[in-house]
Amino acid sequence: MRDAIETTRLELRRFQPSDAPELHEIFSDPMTHTIGAGPFTSLAETQTWIERRVRAFEERGLAWYALRLRDSGVLVGNCGAFIGRTGSLEPELGYEVRLGYRGQGLASEAAQAVLDECFASGIARVWATIRPHNGASLRIAARLGLVREFSRTDERGELLYLSRAPRSTATDSPFPGPDSSQHGRWPAVSPG
Ligand SMILES: CC(C)(COP(=O)(O)OP(=O)(O)OC[C@H]1O[C@@H](n2cnc3c(N)ncnc32)[C@H](O)[C@@H]1OP(=O)(O)O)[C@@H](O)C(=O)NCCC(=O)NCCS
Repeated sequence: MRDAIETTRLELRRFQPSDAPELHEIFSDPMTHTIGAGPFTSLAETQTWIERRVRAFEERGLAWYALRLRDSGVLVGNCGAFIGRTGSLEPELGYEVRLGYRGQGLASEAAQAVLDECFASGIARVWATIRPHNGASLRIAARLGLVREFSRTDERGELLYLSRAPRSTATDSPFPGPDSSQHGRWPAVSPG
């Protein structure tokens, strides 16, 4: 995956340690950071999060991008691919947009660019894991062409697994799902 991508309204640039203070404004906002274990309480948590993303890129080639408005440079969110629950060969897509910038199609625009980037870099299938109550995220996944494959229940309730392969090479997933012991590809890793 590339270090930087441009869309109509956004610049997507891989997070660097220097982005931590700005990103922390998003991660520490309880109205915005509603996923994973909830809002971060210290800048150190955000710094560690960025370090993990930098390492995932170096070791697995999976990129996580800061989303900045091209016209102002404001950091409005983040989006990328991560190992998550489904493994580095079939990573998960994730996205988050700051509360005041929602409802303008920015997450959809970023997620489409990241999905395209995943496929362009040779990833054979991309997943999203979404809670049934997260209507906005389900809407974005549907727009991207991800379809529901199965659901499982964890300590926070039901979790839907959706996925998509590139259209030209769409095949059934080679991975049988979370109940199989065959691959061990389904660790319960929080997206946060
Ligand atoms: C999910 C999130 C990224 C959406 O950001 P956004 O920039 O507002 O998204 P978009 O504007 O691109 O698209 C949102 C779509 O969901 C729709 N939507 C919004 N709230 C909805 C709801 N409660 N139920 C159903 N659809 C909803 C919008 O109408 C829009 O669809 P449309 O373009 O067809 O009208 C944002 O709400 C967020 O950051 N949430 C917290 C983090 C999160 O949940 N991430 C996903 C984890 S799986």
